[in-house]
Amino acid sequence: MSNGKLVKVAIVGATGAVGREMLADLESSPIKNIQLFLFASPRSAGEILNFRDKNYEVKVFNLEQMRGIDACLMSAGGAFSRQYSKAIADQGTTVIDNSSAWRMNESVPLVVPEVNSELLKQWKAGIIANPNCSTIQMVVPIYALHKSFELDLVQVATYQSVSGTGQKGIQELASQVEGHFKYADLVPKVYAQPIAFNVLSAIDTLDQIGHCFEEEKMVRETRKIMNLPHLEILATTARVPSFHCHCEAVTVRLKKSVTRNEAIAVLKKQSGVIVSEENDHAKLPTPRTVVGRPEIFVSRVRTPFDQERSNWLQFWVVADNLKKGAATNAVQILSQIGYDRD
Ligand code: A2P
Repeated sequence: MSNGKLVKVAIVGATGAVGREMLADLESSPIKNIQLFLFASPRSAGEILNFRDKNYEVKVFNLEQMRGIDACLMSAGGAFSRQYSKAIADQGTTVIDNSSAWRMNESVPLVVPEVNSELLKQWKAGIIANPNCSTIQMVVPIYALHKSFELDLVQVATYQSVSGTGQKGIQELASQVEGHFKYADLVPKVYAQPIAFNVLSAIDTLDQIGHCFEEEKMVRETRKIMNLPHLEILATTARVPSFHCHCEAVTVRLKKSVTRNEAIAVLKKQSGVIVSEENDHAKLPTPRTVVGRPEIFVSRVRTPFDQERSNWLQFWVVADNLKKGAATNAVQILSQIGYDRD
C-alpha cells in the first residue's frame, strides 16, 4: 500500500488478546514505514511491547493523542468503541474497529477483503468495521461457493474457543482447568457456568425468543458483507473449552447442484482458504494445528452420503479467531487502504 510514506498507526487495546495479534500482524504487513502508537487502560500504562526491533511504551488512551494519526486499529470492546470511535474518526483518522459497535451502521462498511474489498476503493477516513470472528471464517468459503453455485440457505453450528472473550476468557478456562484437578469449586466469573470440561450452548446476550446475540451477529453480518439481505441463515453458536480457534459445521443449500470434487475445486481457488481432502483422522485440521495461522481451513467437504451430486453440501471450518477472525482481517483492511495516494 505504501511506497515508503510514513503511516502513523495506533493500536487501541494493544495489550488485549486481539491487540497483541494486531501488533504481530502489523509487523509483517506490506506497510513498510510505520510510526506506531500503543494505547490501553491505565492498568497497562508503561508496559513495553516490541515492534520491528524497536520497543514501544503502552500509553493510557487519550483522544487528544489520537490527533494526526492516519489509522487506528481499535480492539478495546464495544462500549469503548461506541464512546470514542466516532470522535477519533472525526479528527480525520480511519478507525478499523473490531467490536460489534458499528458493524450494522448503514454508513459503516463491514469488510472481509476476500469478499467486498471494493468498499475500500477511494477510502478517505471514517470507521470501517471488522466483522465478528465466526462470521469472517464462514463468509469466505460460502462466498466462494456462492460465486459458482449460488447460495440458497446456510446453516451453521459453531464451537467457539474462549479467546473470543479476550484475555479474561483465557484466564477463566486456565484457572478452572487447574481448579478442577484440585477438586476446587469452579466459580464462574466471565461465563454464567463453568467452561472447563463443559459446553455452553449460547454466546452473548439471550433474547426473549430463544436467540443469542452471537447468532444474530452471524446472520446480519453475513447478509451485509455478501450484500444478500434475504439470504436464509440458521445459526447456533456454542462456547467450548478450547483456548484458541473457532470450529464451524456448515451446511449450505445451493441453487446449482454440485459434486464433492466440483465444490473442492472452487474452494481451493479461493484466496485465504486452505482445503484439506484428508480422510485420515490424524491429518484433519484442528484448533491445535491451525492456531497462529492467518488462513481459513476447510475440511470434510461432502454431499449427502447417498448423493454424488446434490444441492446440499456440508463442510467443517477451522480458523484462528484472533488471526483471520480479528487481527489479520483488520490489518488486511489497513493494508488495502492507499494512504500514499494523492
Ligand atoms: P488493559 O490490558 O490495560 O486492560 P481483551 O479483549 O483481551 O480483554 O483486551 C481488551 C483491551 O482493551 C486491553 O488492551 C485493555 O487494556 C483495553 N482496554 C479496556 N478498557 C480500556 C480503556 N478504558 N481504555 C483503553 N484501553 C482499554
